[in-house]
Formats: sequence, structure tokens, C-alpha cells
Amino acid sequence: MYLCLCKGITESDVREAGQEGIVMPGQLKAKFGLKDAGCCGRCSRNIHEFVEIATATHHLPSSNSVRN
Ligand code: FES
Repeated sequence: MYLCLCKGITESDVREAGQEGIVMPGQLKAKFGLKDAGCCGRCSRNIHEFVEIATATHHLPSSNSVRN
């Protein structure tokens, strides 16, 4: 599902950011360029959706990081 149509940002893009530890609104806006010229601002207003997705992913155990 697209979270930002202007930039073509999908849920999985935001999950990847969450896995990298990018979960704060300011970090997410900077990473995805949501303050850039040309953005309509819709997803900036809905940044809580980005944060929820990124945070949920950040707290999931990553199968890549488990090395026993
Ligand atoms: S929908 Fe994200 S800037 Fe327009």
C-alpha cells in the first residue's frame, strides 16, 4: 500500500526504515524527503501512520539479527 503518492513511498519502505531504527517523525520526514518542494504535505500531516509502522517493525525481532 502506498503511504505517499507524491514520492511513491510504500509501507514496506517505511518498515525498512523502522528496521534501521528510523522511527521518529523528524527522522522519517528527513529520510523520505517529506519536507521537500513538490510534496503536497498530506503524508506530513499523517506522519503518525509512518511512525506506527516504523515503530511496530523496529520492535519485531528480525530474523536477520538472530545468529545463534
Ligand atoms: S502524498 Fe506524500 S507528499 Fe504528497
